[in-house]
Parts: sequence; C-alpha cells; structure tokens
Amino acid sequence: MSRPLDSDQDLIRSDVRAWLAQQEAKELLRFITCGSVDDGKSTLIGRLLYESKQIFDDQLAALESDSKRHGTQGEGIDFALLVDGLSAEREQGITIDVAYRFFTSALRKFIVADTPGHEQYTRNMVTGASTADLAVLLVDARKGVLTQTRRHSYLASLVGIRRFVLAVNKMDLVNYDQGAFDAICADYRLFAEQIGIKNWVPIPVSGLAGDNVMSRSEPMPWYDGPTLLEHLDAVPLDAEADAAKPFRLPVQWVNRPNQNFRGFSGQIASGSIGPGAEVRVLPSGRLTRIERVATMDGDQAEAVAGQSVTVTFADEVDCSRGDVIAAAGDPPEAADQFEATIVWMAEDELLPGRGYWMKIGTQLVTATVQQPKYEVNVNTLEHLAAPTLALNAIGIAEVATDREIVFEPYAVEGSSSNKALGGFILIDKLTNATVACGMLHFALRRALNIHRQHLDVSRETHAQIKGQRPAVLWFTGLSGAGKSTIANLVEKKLVARGRHTFLLDGDNVRHGLNRDLGFTETDRIENIRRVGEVARLMSDAGLIVLSAFISPFRAERDMVRAMVPEGEFFEIFVDTPLAEAEKRDVKGLYAKARAGELKNFTGIDSPYEPPERAEIRIDTTELSADQAADRIVEELLKRR
Ligand code: ADX
Repeated sequence: MSRPLDSDQDLIRSDVRAWLAQQEAKELLRFITCGSVDDGKSTLIGRLLYESKQIFDDQLAALESDSKRHGTQGEGIDFALLVDGLSAEREQGITIDVAYRFFTSALRKFIVADTPGHEQYTRNMVTGASTADLAVLLVDARKGVLTQTRRHSYLASLVGIRRFVLAVNKMDLVNYDQGAFDAICADYRLFAEQIGIKNWVPIPVSGLAGDNVMSRSEPMPWYDGPTLLEHLDAVPLDAEADAAKPFRLPVQWVNRPNQNFRGFSGQIASGSIGPGAEVRVLPSGRLTRIERVATMDGDQAEAVAGQSVTVTFADEVDCSRGDVIAAAGDPPEAADQFEATIVWMAEDELLPGRGYWMKIGTQLVTATVQQPKYEVNVNTLEHLAAPTLALNAIGIAEVATDREIVFEPYAVEGSSSNKALGGFILIDKLTNATVACGMLHFALRRALNIHRQHLDVSRETHAQIKGQRPAVLWFTGLSGAGKSTIANLVEKKLVARGRHTFLLDGDNVRHGLNRDLGFTETDRIENIRRVGEVARLMSDAGLIVLSAFISPFRAERDMVRAMVPEGEFFEIFVDTPLAEAEKRDVKGLYAKARAGELKNFTGIDSPYEPPERAEIRIDTTELSADQAADRIVEELLKRR
C-alpha cells in the first residue's frame, strides 16, 4: 500500500473519488537530475520520494533490508538503493538507464528522470531530458563545478531545457559554510553566461540530512531562498509557454468511423484552438475553419498545447497523417534542407550520404546527413573537425530530406521555436533501430531559392523516339565477379537488336566523374549516389542504362531503385564466391589486399551485403559469361 501525504489520508478514506479528481487536476512538472553517483543524486531523489511518502510499504521493507546488505549508510536507510532499481547497477554502484519516478506534493505531480552521468551515457541523458521542463544539476559542495556539471548543462540546454536548479549537495560535509556555497555559485555563473543559460537557481542542500529538500535547513540560517520542493512547486511550466505560441497540430491519424464523420487526431504541439478558428493545412496550404474540437471528455470550446484532440473541418479539405494543421495567419515554413544538431546514438557510426528514415512530428521522410561541419567536445565545448559521428558524439551537420517537411526551429528562444516540429529521430532503414536524435536549427536559403523547372519534352517522349522502354540494369557483386564482362556482352547484344544503351563502369567512372572518391564507406556511398543520379538522368533520356559497380551496400542499391519508376530497375547479382573471385584475381588486387598493401578491399576488410531481392541472380560458377548475358537480355525483353 502506498503512503500518500498525511493530509490526503482523510480524503482518501472519506471520498476516494474526490481525492483521485484532485490528483488528476494537479499540474505536471517533468524534470531531470544530472550528476554522478558521487554527487548523491540517487540519495536526493530517494529523499524526495521518501518525504513525499510515495514509497510503498513493501518497497520500504525491501529498502531496509537492502540497505543492510549493499548500502553505504550503516544501519540507516540508503535512499540511493531506492532509485538505483536495477540490480546490475547496485552491484557496480552506478546508475545506467533512464529511470522515471513519480511523486506528488500538495500542489503538483512530478515525473523525474534519473539519467546517468558518465560520458558514455550521453544518449540516455538526451533521451531523459528531451521532455523535461527543468534540470536539477547536482554538485558536491566539496568539489564544486566539475567538467561533468558543464557537460550536463550543455546537453540539457541543447535539448531545450530553459530552467535549471544548481543543487549544491552535501552541505553537511562542508559545515554548512556559506562561503563554499557562494564560491560554487560564482563559478557556475561564469559558465552559465558563456553558454546562454539565463534561468538558474542555486540551492544549498543535503540529500542525506534532508536540509532544504522539503523542509528548511536549521543549520543554514543564511539561506533565505526556497527549498528544492518549494521551487519545484512554483517554477513556471513549459506547457504554459507552449500554449501561448501559434497553433500547431501534427496529424497523427485520420479518424473516419463512418461516411459522415472525418476527424483529424493528434496532440496539440503549441497554441490553442476552438470551433470557428481559421486554420491552414500544411504542406498544401489549404484554408478552412475548425468545426468541432473533441477530446476524451467530449466536445470542447477550447483545447491547448499538450492535449490530444480530434478536430473536424467546416469544408472538405484534404488532410492526411503527417500533415500539420496550423494557425491560418501564422503558419510554419516548409523546406527540405537544414542545418541541425545531431546526437549519434548507435554503435555503428553515421554514414554521411546514406538515407535514413527521419521521424519529425508525425512526418516520416528519408533524410541524408552530410559530413559534419564539426563535432562538439561535450566537455570543453570545443569544435572539432569530424568526418563522421560515433556513439554519443554530437555534431552540427546539414541534413537533406527527400521531400519538403513542415518544421520550426527546435530550441530558439521566443515564439517560433517548437520541440514537436523541430526535434527528430533518425532510424536505420534495414535494422529499424533508432540511430540518432536531432534538432533542426534553420532551413538553408540555398534550398529555398531553387525551384524545379518544368520540361516540355517529357521522359515518355524521349523513350518513344527511341522506340523502347528505358531501364537501369544494375550489376552488383564482388570485385572480379564478372560484372564488367557480363555487362559488356549484354550491351553488345542489346545494341545488335537496335536498342539504345549506355554502360557506366566503376573503373571508368572512377577515372573521371568520381576521381575524387576513394574506398571508405562514405566515399562508396557517394560513388553510388552520383552514379545513381547519372543512371536516372540517362534513363530519363530514354536509354537502357547498364551499370557495373561493386555497390556493396543494400541501402544505396535500394536508394537507386527508388529513384527510377517501378519496373525499370533490374538488380542483377553477379554471384561469384569470394574464394572464386580471389582465385581468378584478374587485376592482382586480392593478392595486394591479402598482403596488406591495399586497405578497405571489398570481401577482405570491407563488407559486401548480398542482395536479398535481386531481379536476376547469375551464378558464375554455373553459367558462362555469354550464357549469363543471354539470360539477362531475355529477362529484359520479356518485360513487354
Ligand atoms: S564501389 O564499392 O564504390 O561500388 P566500384 O565498383 O566503384 O566500387 O570500384 C571497384 C573497383 O575499384 C574494383 O573492381 C577494383 O578494380 C578497384 N578497387 C581499388 N581499390 C579497391 C578497394 N579497396 N575495394 C574494392 N575495389 C577496389
């Protein structure tokens, strides 16, 4: 059984519904605590939970016995054990995942994300911080502001936290000395100014002794500010600021239970809305008026940021999942190239140029990230040159999406910022793992000023003149597999039948168009991107394009596939086992690679991902090059 605030006990007994309604109506503050094990972070949270009596009796019993086994507090209760719930953590004495705790005061309810402090857990901290209104930065009164205090401040402000508490903990260990506290505040003030943190409140506390956590500290009569809980009870909420911004509703789904009802559902990202309001549906830009605003509690005259609603329109206006319904007079921009901050969260590093799924608001698009402009050293805030981003690295880079997205900058102060329309995640298309999170800064003007020109002679006309249907025959396979040989034969056979063709060959293109590229993963991705674009242009011109490149990665082959119309892309897997290609070694490159004279050689120390859904697979151990070419020509001509 839980033990809520004593004053609540009577109400619970006399009228449990009234008590529940009261809890429901309380404002919610989300905050994170940053600091390391040694700063007493878990003890402080444990103290908050314990004093607000949100601990369950059985937890309390377990805590008492655990404290005796693992604790660092002798016979006393070790509050840290309450928070460090995972047993692995207990044994190592560190906090690893993001643990969310819930407690209430008489005025508010709180969700606290307890995030780990070490640098290798940057991604966990960013995750915990992204939805928080406030960050409590813990420093040990004996040690003062440390590198990690700065790192946490930077990360928290990066994800858009605007309010900070500098909790100077363990004041009992410095004899509650005001001088020690003042010196730490002065030190932090300098740093806060440097990174633009304006709103921070220092509080001297002792999590262990309970000073200034919920009750005032007797040994610190010199401190006349609020206790930690008083401050948490009074600090303004982000939701209030969000409600004052222009209206935005990213559409999560279209609710159409029958022919007579068509509603658009989602969570209001900012502003407020009511029946009669003029809105614009983006990206189409269509104007309409709101007819009804429905919530879980029925129709409303007004709904505000943070609420989930279903709205209906006065007119039949197209609107689908991923669209944004916005205030008619103050809509957000749309663009497809941006500068952004990227926090890399995966073991495999960022591959500049690779297409990832990007989820932003309710929009899902394909995005590519350029080589970072720089990486930020999170400890010193220095800018470092970086070809890519590894796990937990933070960088600034240009991002391009495959179509325009409706967005707002993530963390600019003022009315135009919006976490819901500026924050995004990147997802690996093959593994479906979230590999990064990011924040958009602004759209690149360059992209905004380039329009598409309409061409009067169409792709169809080009094809008609040549009397053929265009195609891209994409040969992939190991070096020495026989791609060029077979592609050459196929081209000859097609030309003999009067077809208009062109062969793009890896070795040749690398002498010209792509002579600036080497064989790193990034360069290979760019190699294929360019060749893909060229193949697309040539197929637009009506040609049957043959391309012979190792093209070792599935993601880029799929990217080219998606560039050309359905039915015009033929992935041809020239399947020669590594041992066989190495035995042939026509160019002597395998021997060099084995001798260590050639780095990043495909199949040796650079990967090859075989196709999973190739249109044609050629087993070169069974077919001669000529037989293979005949088969491919036959498949192609079968098409119509
Ligand atoms: S791809 O991986 O980017 O698609 P591409 O087909 O253009 O490669 O070039 C491969 C050719 O470059 C090989 O057939 C070989 O002749 C040559 N080459 C030189 N170095 C390498 C290397 N490290 N790995 C693979 N091929 C290499």
